[in-house]
Amino acid sequence: MKNVAVAGAQWGDEGKGKVVDILAQKFDFVIRYQGGHNAGHSVVFGGKRYALHVLPSGVFHPDTVNIVGNGVVVDPFALLKEIEGMAQKGLTISPDRLLISDRAHIILPYHGIIDRWRESGPGKRHIGTTGRGIGPAYEWKASRRGLRFCDARDKDLFRNRIEAEYKAICALYGDLDELKEWPVSRVLEESIAAVDRLLPHVVDSVYVLAEARRQKKRMLFEGAQATLLDVDFGTYPYVTSSNSCVSGITAGAGVPPAAVERTIGICKAYTTRVGKGPFPTELHDDVGGQLRDAGHEYGTTTGRPRRCGWLDLVALKYTHLINEFTTLAIMKLDVMDKLEEVKLCVGYTIDGKETQQFPAALSDLERVKPVYKSFPGWKTPLHEVRRYDALPVEAKRYLEAIQDYIGCPIGLVSVGPDREQTIFHHADYFN
Ligand code: GDP
Ligand code: IMO
Ligand code: MG
Repeated sequence: MKNVAVAGAQWGDEGKGKVVDILAQKFDFVIRYQGGHNAGHSVVFGGKRYALHVLPSGVFHPDTVNIVGNGVVVDPFALLKEIEGMAQKGLTISPDRLLISDRAHIILPYHGIIDRWRESGPGKRHIGTTGRGIGPAYEWKASRRGLRFCDARDKDLFRNRIEAEYKAICALYGDLDELKEWPVSRVLEESIAAVDRLLPHVVDSVYVLAEARRQKKRMLFEGAQATLLDVDFGTYPYVTSSNSCVSGITAGAGVPPAAVERTIGICKAYTTRVGKGPFPTELHDDVGGQLRDAGHEYGTTTGRPRRCGWLDLVALKYTHLINEFTTLAIMKLDVMDKLEEVKLCVGYTIDGKETQQFPAALSDLERVKPVYKSFPGWKTPLHEVRRYDALPVEAKRYLEAIQDYIGCPIGLVSVGPDREQTIFHHADYFN
C-alpha cells in the first residue's frame, strides 16, 4: 500500500483532476497541499462535467476524506460557493468529508483586489494571473501578516487583525475603485460570516495525517498548477506563488518526505500554457489552432484560451529531474488524432548553441529555438481504445519516443475526458 503524489509536469491543466478522480477510490485521503482557487480541475463521468477549484478531486468517492492542507491559500467565499454548487448537483460535502487545516491562510477580499490591480493598466508587470488573490495571499503569509483559520476561532483577535491589515492596505492602495466597494465594515462582516461557516471543517490536519500514517491509511496528494509554474523551478517571474512540484507536499501538507512513496507526473501529449511567459514550442499556426479546438483548450477557472504547442521533452525531462516521477500519465493523446505529422522537441538551440538543459534566465528562455523530431500521425480516432496494444503503431512509436527520452515509464494513457477513456499500460504503478 503506497501513498501517491499526482503532480503537473508542464504548465498546468494537464488533466490532474481526471487522474486523481480515477485513483481516489483506492485512497483514504486526498490532500491538496498548495495553490488555491487559481486551480481548475475537471472531472467527467456519467455524462456530467465537474470543475473543482479548492475542493480536492476525491470528493466524488463517499469513503474518501478530502483535506485542504496548510499550504493552500483559501478564499472562504470561493470555497463556500463551490460547496453550494456541489450541493445543487446532489453532492453534500459534510464536515467529516472535507477537512481544512487550521494553519491554512485565508485569502481576504483585499488580496484579490491587489492582484487584479497589478494585472491591469499600463506600466505594471503583467503575469497573466488568474486574478484570484493567490500571489498577495502568499506574500502576506511570507511577510507574517497573514490570517489563518486558527485565528478565526478568537473573534476579537480576528476582527482586530483584519482592521489593522485593512488600515495598512488603505495607506498603500486607498485609491483603488474596487477597494472602495469593500469598506472595512463589509470586509469584516462578510469575511467573518464566511469563515464561520467553514469552521466546522477546520482541524489540525498534522495530527489527522499522523494518525492516518500510524494506521497505514492511504494518502493521495493532489498537486495544483505544475513544476513549470513553481515559484522556484518555473519560468520565473511568470509563475504562481507556491511550490507546485512534489517537494511542496511536505511543507504544504505537514507530512515527512517518506510519506510520499510514488509520484505520477501528469503530462499532455502536447503542451499548453495559460497566462504570459516563455513557451519555446508554442505554435502560432493552424496546428496550434487545431490543438486548441480539438482539445477545448480554454481555462477551467478563467475561460481564457490556452496557448498550444508541441510536447517539449527538454522541459519535461527538467521537471522529471526535479520530481523523479515513478511513472508518467500521458493525457489527451486523442486530441492529436487528425494530425498528419506530430513533433517532439528533443533539444534547444540558444544563439546557435545546442543544449539539452532548460535554462533559468528569462532572457535565455526567450531566445530558445526548439529542435524537433517528426513522427507520422496516426490519423485514427482513439476515443474507444482501452488497451495499450490496440493503439495504432504510430501512436505507440510517439509514446515510446517520449518514454525513452525521459527515462520514465508511461503507466497511463488518456484518450478522452471521461473516467472510462483511460488506458492503464502498467496497472501495477496504480495499485
Ligand atoms: P487539471 O487542471 O490538470 O486538472 O486539468 P484541467 O481540468 O484544467 O484541464 C484538462 C482538460 O482536458 C479538462 O477539460 C478535461 O476534461 C480534459 N481532459 C482530460 N483528459 C483528457 C483526454 O485524455 N482527452 C481529452 N480530449 N480531454 C481530456
Ligand atoms: P491547474 O491546477 C494553468 C497560471 C496563471 C498565470 C500564473 C500565475 O488547473 O493546473 P496565479 O493566479 O496563480 O498567481 O497566476 O499561473 N496558473 C495556472 N495555469 N493551470 C493552473 O492550475 C493555474 N494556476 C495558475 O495563468 O500564468
Ligand atoms: Mg486546470
